Amino acid sequence: MPTALITGITGQDGSYLAEFLLQQGYRVVGMVRRTSTVNFHRIAHIQDEVELVSGDMLDQISLVHILEEYRPDEIYNLAAQSFVQTSWSQPVFTGEVTALGVTRLLDAIRIVDPAIRFYQASSSEMFGKVREVPQRETTPFYPRSPYGVAKVYGHWITVNYRESYGMHCTSGILFNHESPRRGLEFVTRKITHHVAQIKLGMADELRLGNLDARRDWGFAGDYVRAMWLMLQQETPDDYVVATGETHSVAEFLDEAFGYVDLDWHDYVVQDPRYMRPAEVDLLVGDASKAGHALGWEPNVSFAELVHMMVDADLEMLRDGGTAL
Ligand code: NAP
Ligand code: GDD
Repeated sequence: MPTALITGITGQDGSYLAEFLLQQGYRVVGMVRRTSTVNFHRIAHIQDEVELVSGDMLDQISLVHILEEYRPDEIYNLAAQSFVQTSWSQPVFTGEVTALGVTRLLDAIRIVDPAIRFYQASSSEMFGKVREVPQRETTPFYPRSPYGVAKVYGHWITVNYRESYGMHCTSGILFNHESPRRGLEFVTRKITHHVAQIKLGMADELRLGNLDARRDWGFAGDYVRAMWLMLQQETPDDYVVATGETHSVAEFLDEAFGYVDLDWHDYVVQDPRYMRPAEVDLLVGDASKAGHALGWEPNVSFAELVHMMVDADLEMLRDGGTAL
């Protein structure tokens, strides 16, 4: 039974990846950081099947000890300060976790067992002010946020450890992917959660920033499959993972409010608090390399994704649940 270590297992992707790897027959070890309140809600349903270990991307000793103790065959590095907006108010912290954290982990692998296969969660945010449409593996980076800059560092240090030490290090350049488990601060979940609240008479307003930004939005469950496929390849490489479709925030609003027969113009208020100092205007990926090399393609369409998220938020609120 192969062993996989997931950093960031309590996050959206970590929870889907853990489920997927368990189905593939892996022993799954998840690294969690110390918090004053337990935040295992996304993995509560599989908590008995995974092994959780305490560690932090800021603490290299903890990373070395985890690798020595659990001896993973594969490591999926999903841990990050992942919210772009926060990266302007906490740029140094974002760099420590999202950029230097990658080096800490790569060097722990180099020290303990350089044969471990490594996946780095790189991001379409690296393309930023895009140099090419659609974006592919060879498109130059032009990050537009401290988060994007940190991810560029994480990407290149992954490539560097591959080239310097011959390690099996792969960078997955994933475009936005969403799900009912998406954090409430991200625009898709913020919208679907408000749609459900408004539909059920629990809210009457949704405050947003830039409605013109365009993103290539896919389903997280599809994207974790691509991560695993990358580490099954004989040779490490970099891959774009995307749907190839782009939609504006306004189009997301159309789909989400329209699904429950509401008109978003009656509820949405633009609020300068949610505008960003520098914006990424357009993302759309070309995942043809992942298609031919990995046999990967997305299964969930844009409309299906939006409906899935609205349905899940409606169901949760009707059941009296609070948003996770
Ligand atoms: P997420 O829901 O924000 O999860 C981030 C995870 O990182 C959480 O488990 C968090 O733990 C953990 N973490 C944060 N700081 C840490 C630290 N210092 N030490 C250890 N763990 C730490 O993010 P996601 O959407 O699942 O994304 C997963 C990864 O893919 C991230 O690296 C993200 O930047 C990248 N990515 C995401 C997308 C996307 O559209 N979702 C696209 C491209 C790339 P807590 O629960 O304790 O906070
Ligand atoms: N969060 C948020 N809140 N975004 C808003 C709002 C709002 O009220 N109003 C408009 N937006 C716009 C943002 O300005 C941005 O252009 C777009 O909606 C998407 O914002 P987010 O959902 O926060 O995602 P992101 O694209 O900045 O970052 C996500 O995707 C990256 C991949 O491209 C995150 O998951 C990153 O971790 C990931 O790397």
